[in-house]
Amino acid sequence: MSAMPRRRFLQSAAVTFAGGAIYQRAQGAPLLPLAELRAQGAVVVSTWPFGQPANEKALKVLQAGGAGLDAIEQGINVTESDAGNPSVGLGGIPNADGVVQLDACIMSGPGHRAGSVGALSGFPHPISVARRIMETTRHVMLVGDGAAKFATEQGFARGPELTAGQRDGWEKWRREQAARPAPAKAATGGAAAKPDNHDTIAMVLLAPDGHLYGGCSTSGWGYKLAGRVGDSPILGSGLYVDDDIGAAGATGIGENVMRYCGSFLVVEYMRQGLHPQEACLETIRRIAKKDPKGFDLSINFVALDKKGRFGAAGTGSGFEYSVTCGKFSRVLQSPGLTSSKVGPIGGNRK
Ligand code: GLY
Repeated sequence: MSAMPRRRFLQSAAVTFAGGAIYQRAQGAPLLPLAELRAQGAVVVSTWPFGQPANEKALKVLQAGGAGLDAIEQGINVTESDAGNPSVGLGGIPNADGVVQLDACIMSGPGHRAGSVGALSGFPHPISVARRIMETTRHVMLVGDGAAKFATEQGFARGPELTAGQRDGWEKWRREQAARPAPAKAATGGAAAKPDNHDTIAMVLLAPDGHLYGGCSTSGWGYKLAGRVGDSPILGSGLYVDDDIGAAGATGIGENVMRYCGSFLVVEYMRQGLHPQEACLETIRRIAKKDPKGFDLSINFVALDKKGRFGAAGTGSGFEYSVTCGKFSRVLQSPGLTSSKVGPIGGNRK
């Protein structure tokens, strides 16, 4: 590396280049050999800046010899335990009835196994419940009362169901709803449809054993109708892992992801040869082309392939995502897509 100190190089690269390119440039080679990647203890990619401490926990688990699923679960547990995070786990936003209903799923590349939980109340770590469903039952998904019964029987610790801050917010929202004229009331779900109120953690990682794993966890759309389940626990929508190809996860308005199997689509584009970042972009272009909302979708994807290359993309101005490996841990800005920036679908195959 030239005269520029390594730290500064990485920082400037973070501003200048897309995710995968940072990784490649930081290593001074077009692609880090998989053997070296394994030697440095894996790559962890997750949504949003709050994913960074979760990534770092996941990497520590792997570096200590832990399994990929342990890394995913314990990493996401970090976010779920943060009562200050208003959209995941303990601090999650409630539904229209003032009840926090959490969604999560976990997926293992080896064995193509998965577990999932929807509309779970009373337990702050839905990722752990999802894993237990995967590992101890013949099912993939449990929801609502049945999921809570399972979590109780399995001895999961119950947690506070609504923080004081979330209760205040919900009561204010209810007062506002009551003051609105009848047709504007939330028969179709909460008014809180801003992109900042369903910030899922979706995490994907390539473990030192060369296998891919993923998980995601969220309280979903704020003030949603009771029983609403979003994209996050739906395999292929909020998360998908194909151990031969790559892994992808989503954040944003779940309704705009789950109608298109968004994460599955990202992985399929990687299968066709696209770089993870281009696969995320292409998925959004394809959805926007069909969807009446066009690019006004509030959806974002992260992706990681079997070679350790990663990327992300979102609608609007994009979004921030976190990448952690043995050499660095950073929050990066994804490219954004609006109708004025979109290229033709189907370009950029490698
Ligand atoms: N993406 C999370 C949700 O919409 O529930």
